[in-house]
Amino acid sequence: MTTVRLRSVAKINLDLRVLERRADGYHNLRTVFQTISLADTLDIAYAPARRLTVELQSTVEITGNLIEKAAQLLAIPGRFNIRLHKRIPMGGGLGGGSSNAAAMLLAIPFLVGKQVPLRKLIDLASQLGSDVPFFLLGGTAAGLDRGTELYPLPDIPRLPAVVITPKIHVSTAEAYRAIDEHRSGAPPAPTSHEALTWMLETAPPAAWPCCNDFETVVFPQFPQLKSIQGKLQKLGAGVALMSGSGSTLFGLFANRKSRDSAVVSLRKDLGKEVIFPVSLVSRGAYRSLWRRQLRVSPDLTIWPPQSRYAQ
Ligand code: C5P
Repeated sequence: MTTVRLRSVAKINLDLRVLERRADGYHNLRTVFQTISLADTLDIAYAPARRLTVELQSTVEITGNLIEKAAQLLAIPGRFNIRLHKRIPMGGGLGGGSSNAAAMLLAIPFLVGKQVPLRKLIDLASQLGSDVPFFLLGGTAAGLDRGTELYPLPDIPRLPAVVITPKIHVSTAEAYRAIDEHRSGAPPAPTSHEALTWMLETAPPAAWPCCNDFETVVFPQFPQLKSIQGKLQKLGAGVALMSGSGSTLFGLFANRKSRDSAVVSLRKDLGKEVIFPVSLVSRGAYRSLWRRQLRVSPDLTIWPPQSRYAQ
């Protein structure tokens, strides 16, 4: 039996533009994904077997768990006993379930010693959910299509940040519908999104032309979110935005000192359990984390990680 302990990290959207509604009902996006240090823990025990069995124990009840679905879709035989310790708040725009699913897609082939081509992993990931492919890549990345077509962007500094998950549920489907209704005519031109991707490497966060189109429809419905954004700005966040379709908000800070004093003040205002101090996780750090936790020998730099004996 082989066991591994995996940290399955969350994401935020540094930028999110919703484009046109497509014939299949989904919307095309332009987004910038970013991994952050807030993470669930997955303990996986693997034993060879003729058939695939997955047993999952979790600290919280999750219906339609993507961990099991990912293993089924990958369809590599073996017995997998998994314990999930959830820390990433669910359903708030932080991609926790998607991250768990991608962790399975990365870990199973490695544990079993089987080669799965990257393009197949990306295809399976996008069948599991729009945010899943991003977690095969990590770091900072531009996402097109449903967020499933990904292009790596250069690493940005590992800025300290704060994530706030108010106890407000936003329906993603309704938020998309509201954007369609709110918008008259074609979606705006992409120039500021494009400029942002150029500026991430060279300009300080306060100068980034970031936005999240969902704020236009979600803030009027939940004014508390707008007021939290205002607080983040007052406390010195260079970028203060909603992530995904909400209700999570995040702020990026220039240094730990200003982030930490913002955390103290926000906890007083909003309660301890909804405020998470985090930092941005670069692609380099994401890949080192994966190599460490799978105990990959340092001379194997291929990505995704592969066992030396993989066939
Ligand atoms: O990705 P998720 O399953 O949370 O999406 C819920 C709903 O949001 C979809 O059924 C669809 O109506 C809408 N959606 C969309 N365009 C996307 C992603 C989701 O219209 N890119």
